Amino acid sequence: MNKITIGNSRLESSRFIYGCMRIAGDNSASDRDKGKIAIQTALDNGYNHFDHADIYGNGECESLFGELLAEKPSLREQIILTSKAGIRSKSNEHNSYAPKRYDFSQRYLINSVEASLKRLNTDYLDMFLLHRPDYLFDVEEVADTFALLKASGKVRHFGVSNFKPSQFDLLQSKASMPLLVNQVEINIHNIDTLLDGTLDQCQQHNITPIAWCPLGGVAYSAWGNTFTPEDESRIAQELAQQSKKHNCSPWQIALAWLLKHPANICPIIGSTTPERIIAAKQALALDYSREDWYRLLEARNGQPVP
Ligand SMILES: NC(=O)c1ccc[n+]([C@@H]2O[C@H](COP(=O)([O-])OP(=O)(O)OC[C@H]3O[C@@H](n4cnc5c(N)ncnc54)[C@H](OP(=O)(O)O)[C@@H]3O)[C@@H](O)[C@H]2O)c1
Repeated sequence: MNKITIGNSRLESSRFIYGCMRIAGDNSASDRDKGKIAIQTALDNGYNHFDHADIYGNGECESLFGELLAEKPSLREQIILTSKAGIRSKSNEHNSYAPKRYDFSQRYLINSVEASLKRLNTDYLDMFLLHRPDYLFDVEEVADTFALLKASGKVRHFGVSNFKPSQFDLLQSKASMPLLVNQVEINIHNIDTLLDGTLDQCQQHNITPIAWCPLGGVAYSAWGNTFTPEDESRIAQELAQQSKKHNCSPWQIALAWLLKHPANICPIIGSTTPERIIAAKQALALDYSREDWYRLLEARNGQPVP
């Protein structure tokens, strides 16, 4: 698998990252077995970077991965482990309703990282990302938290997820280390990051954009998707034509479309189906042209660019 250097670091990541959000499934024994096979398939096929979050499967996804690391401790040094925190589920705190919320307070983030390390059976994360911007985030407090986590050896590198360029700049202005990545939704249906300056900022400062839900509405009905059936059929038709031309599947074209962007987008592959985890790699070898790229954009927009 092609490798890429993450931001201004020495981390050599596979171009496709394996996403662990679905590996525990419904937490049944059969789903957990399927998840383990998916991780092993990813490892056998050159994925060396695994994306987690404390909330995936309520912690079960990290625990499942931790079981694998406990069985094979030598694996730890061969892979890049990323996890995220900052989203809290609704709960009852001191007998009063606490809604779903974001929390970048020092105590919460440090506790979350420590809990992730325990579940993952490791003593460090290669990267820790803030999952979604906390409206109440105190930049000095977060910068201090990052410095503490780094000094303790619990986290080696830092980044963010779902940050707008202004939020990224704000945190970078106080953080004592470079923020290496912004993990954002990018797919043919959701092109916000092409329009709001996120990908420009990534190119300018050598920040690695990591794409979550890279297939978006191509593989399944994505949340927040407001496309009409006519829009969907135009996109599907163009994908079908291009996949015929490139002798591959439509969803592999959707990945090639992301790879073409000069910001060096790293898609996260979230399938738990071994055949798809393997087949995704074909997208890396496609000779995908500027014209193909704009044809698909035109089909998405329903009109040529101005
Ligand atoms: N930072 C964030 O806010 C955020 C948010 C969401 C996700 N993420 C990360 O991004 C990763 C990827 O997200 P994702 O899992 O939504 O991405 P995805 O790779 O776009 O979608 C995976 C889903 O699509 C299905 N799928 C894949 N190829 C398919 C095909 N050809 N036909 C039909 N279904 C297909 C998979 O089913 P099968 O498993 O059955 O193949 C799976 O349910 C996650 O694992 C997580 O690590 C981050």
